[in-house]
Amino acid sequence: MTPARPPAEYLRFAYTTLQRLLDACRTAFFRALVARMGRQVRISRGTILSCPRRLVIGDNVFVNMGCMLHAEGGLSIGDDTEIGPYTVIWTTNHVFDRTDRLIRAQGERHAPVVIEPDVWIGASAIILPGVTLGQGAVVGAGAVVTKDVPPYGVVAGNPAALIKTRAAPGEDDELTRAEAGARPRRTRST
Ligand SMILES: CC(C)(COP(=O)(O)OP(=O)(O)OC[C@H]1O[C@@H](n2cnc3c(N)ncnc32)[C@H](O)[C@@H]1OP(=O)(O)O)[C@@H](O)C(=O)NCCC(=O)NCCS
Repeated sequence: MTPARPPAEYLRFAYTTLQRLLDACRTAFFRALVARMGRQVRISRGTILSCPRRLVIGDNVFVNMGCMLHAEGGLSIGDDTEIGPYTVIWTTNHVFDRTDRLIRAQGERHAPVVIEPDVWIGASAIILPGVTLGQGAVVGAGAVVTKDVPPYGVVAGNPAALIKTRAAPGEDDELTRAEAGARPRRTRST
């Protein structure tokens, strides 16, 4: 006789709890490596930090699974930012000005990426060196961001272009940042 399978709810609970435990261990490990990490940060599975000593992470930041955060040129991630799965953030370019030398012999140029507070980056976005994402900006899934995004701007595409601007706080009926901060953090299944 086949043994009864545990109820789906039990399995779901066990899986979510395990993932949260692993996320907590991973985040604690990364905390020891980065320049600074705020409170209530969660870094999901498969995320890679390159040059973590140049990485600054604010409070309430969520980095979804499989991200590549390259911080050699300096990377700062503002409070309350959410980074979608498989996002790549890069802070270095190879120099390729000369044709009489190999590209790999010409060195690298670094430029910092600055992510201001309350930014949402959609899945599989690529943020290139030197870019600043203004406060409250949204980056669409799969966008390749080559230029600065203004505060509350929404960009999408390759190269990313402004598709709309969000209403600034106080200009619409949505929660203000202060109210949002008072709400309990959403539960995530990943
Ligand atoms: C960027 C985004 C937030 C915009 O959502 P929205 O405000 O509802 O925008 P709309 O759907 O009205 O789209 C507006 C226009 O932008 C285009 N657009 C939207 N998202 C796009 C994207 N990611 N890439 C390219 N174009 C996009 C739409 O096709 C539409 O073009 P049109 O005006 O020519 O028809 C959303 O499309 C998106 O990419 N979300 C990310 C989802 C995700 O990654 N989730 C998991 C991560 S946690």
